[in-house]
Amino acid sequence: MLRRSLLMLARSEQIKHLAGSMPVSSGIVSRFVAGESVDDVVEVSRGLIADGRLVSLDHLGEDTLDRDQADSTVQAYLEVLKRLADSGLTHGAEVSVKLSAVGQALGDDGARLALDNARRICQAATNAGTTVTLDMEDHTTTDSTLSILHELRQDFPDTGAVVQAYLRRTEADCRDLTRAGSRVRLCKGAYKEPESVAYQSRAEVDLSYVRCLKVLMAGDGYPMVATHDPTLIAIAGALVSRYSRAKGSYEYQMLYGVRPDEQKRLAAAGKRMRVYVPYGDQWYGYLMRRLAERPANVAFFLRSLATKG
Ligand code: FDA
Repeated sequence: MLRRSLLMLARSEQIKHLAGSMPVSSGIVSRFVAGESVDDVVEVSRGLIADGRLVSLDHLGEDTLDRDQADSTVQAYLEVLKRLADSGLTHGAEVSVKLSAVGQALGDDGARLALDNARRICQAATNAGTTVTLDMEDHTTTDSTLSILHELRQDFPDTGAVVQAYLRRTEADCRDLTRAGSRVRLCKGAYKEPESVAYQSRAEVDLSYVRCLKVLMAGDGYPMVATHDPTLIAIAGALVSRYSRAKGSYEYQMLYGVRPDEQKRLAAAGKRMRVYVPYGDQWYGYLMRRLAERPANVAFFLRSLATKG
């Protein structure tokens, strides 16, 4: 119930305006967001990589409303990829891209524009010696995102996919995505979805996650286990043994600011552990999804709002 309310709140213009005037340095924002500038995110990445973790950087922004905004998002990715390369960090850093931020929702031409823009980012990532993963957004975009993924993979086979265990379709999507070299991030899913397309209870989502994980671990691709859930992390470990997966043929992923001790533990145990690191000033929608996942964060957020300025 609270989760649904928060996801609705994410669409409230009033709260968005109020929260948008909070500095990124305020407690609850800086816990989940690396900062607003490229300098900020490069420094955070340097620290995480030095500590034995990998990163995937997300330039925050979604639901882009015009071509100029989509183009400035592309420029932001080109800039951060150049900075990562110049800083010698691309061995440990890739980028995550939301297609809605590069034009997917812009009318009939949206898919074509998003593909062209994503291609520019993939080319820059290849030039820098790294890869791109396409984030997955609400279910109305799944088909379009997967078809753009398939097109991108013609030229950039390392492009990563994301699938969401809460969607009823995802087990079948996993089967389609298990060919050799296919990088697939499996997450539970962070949007408010109707029962017609998505499992609603925590138990059903977790069971779906395990079914999908089995398909990915048994397949020839590269599973990216994106969860903070201790039970699912243990099950992933058991599946690695069951399917005799080589070290380096899969990885764990967690969000910046969530269970950092567990991130360190997995990295110290020699696992590939990637942290998803968002940055930029458009942090509101992202923060609301993080609050919706953990009600304990909400009181902290409300206190930050009340004391701002
Ligand atoms: P769950 O929500 O059950 O949390 C398990 C435990 O983790 C909690 O009990 C708590 O201890 C801790 N925890 C989880 N979230 C927390 C939070 N916000 N604050 C504090 N503690 C928290 N979704 C999507 O729809 N599209 C996408 O592209 C992505 N991409 C993505 C990348 C990566 C690397 C990750 C880790 C996650 C995503 N997600 C996502 C988000 C994902 O769908 C999901 O909403 C969150 O990961 C929370 O689900 P968990 O699997 O962690 O389980």
